[in-house]
Amino acid sequence: MGNVILPPDIDTPRYIYDIKLLKTTLAALRKAAANPAYRLHYAVKANCEPQILRIIAETGIGADTVSGGEIRMAIDAGFAPEKICFAGVGKTDAEIDFALSTGVGCFNVESVEELQIIAGRARQAHRTAAVALRVNPDIDAHTHHYITTGLAENKFGIDRRLLDKALAIVAESEYLRLRGLHFHIGSQITDNTPFAILCERINRLQDEYNNRGIFFETINVGGGLGIDYDDPAANPIPDFSGLFNVIDSNFALRPGQEIHFELGRSIVGQCGTLLTRVLYVKHGFEKKFAIVDAGFTDLIRPALYQAVHRIENISTEYTDTDIYDVVGPICESTDTFATDLRLPITHRGDFLAIRSAGAYGSSMAMQYNGRSLPASYFAE
Ligand code: LLP
Repeated sequence: MGNVILPPDIDTPRYIYDIKLLKTTLAALRKAAANPAYRLHYAVKANCEPQILRIIAETGIGADTVSGGEIRMAIDAGFAPEKICFAGVGKTDAEIDFALSTGVGCFNVESVEELQIIAGRARQAHRTAAVALRVNPDIDAHTHHYITTGLAENKFGIDRRLLDKALAIVAESEYLRLRGLHFHIGSQITDNTPFAILCERINRLQDEYNNRGIFFETINVGGGLGIDYDDPAANPIPDFSGLFNVIDSNFALRPGQEIHFELGRSIVGQCGTLLTRVLYVKHGFEKKFAIVDAGFTDLIRPALYQAVHRIENISTEYTDTDIYDVVGPICESTDTFATDLRLPITHRGDFLAIRSAGAYGSSMAMQYNGRSLPASYFAE
């Protein structure tokens, strides 16, 4: 939002989206993903603002969705149904029926039990469901434990030991078609080593199955590429090439095979800023609090994952600084955006910009305490 000009009477709290940065990020992603075997998808859960979805859909990439609602949003925004994957551990029968009716390209299946239900619903609908079986690779992504997904203890994916059973169900059903395997190890991954380990695990698994005459037309390696929350101005574009180089050098691609990616945070994270106004500067005996009009209802990441977002006072001319806790108005102690943060001397009415809030910000907003959902502003 560095260069974005805001209307002077803008209401807060409000997400400000830097659409130019979003487009530059998408261009960088597409340039880095030069390998013809790659198929890119956007993880809609990261940000489902229709304007954002439309811009991403225009690039022609696919969508990774986790509910009937997300499938609807993706189609409305212009994503081609055959490029939509439908994932999620708890798909309802109604969502499965809806996905079948729209002709989504792939169901990412999370359990043997779910596979049997999809086969049944597809039979009833006289449709074929293309499936990718999500395998739990048991890899530690070294990210916050609330957003790691590829460990055996997590609820996600089919245990490796049940994969044969799942494959047999697919082979037996005339309403299921095997597309391949799906993996996802976690989110906000800033060291690429876990991706290299994932490739090795996939290679070994493929060797084993290829020897038995079973081939996978697609391998989905998930999302998870991290962004720089500490210094977003220095690193507005994530290191897409770093991720793709690790995949290219470690993944043993089979002839004709596609590698699928489903990136969320790295596409939209840096283009969003949560703009908030200081309501009060409260002088306690121990601390000074900058009480702002945004709360965890607008951006829950600090409260839920102890996430640290860079916060800047964009109103003040002061160069003198002081130390503040930046807190919201919600009746919970976790409604804190920063503790002991050094800011320029801050006053009531100042705008604070909470950076890197484009991913898992507005899409996770809620109405606790009778609050309104945060508004958005799209700056071209
Ligand atoms: N694929 C699957 C199967 C996923 O579960 C996720 C994210 C993605 C792709 C996209 O991952 P990304 O590229 O955005 O890392 N709310 C948390 C993050 C939760 C991620 C959930 N799954 C946060 O704010 O950090």
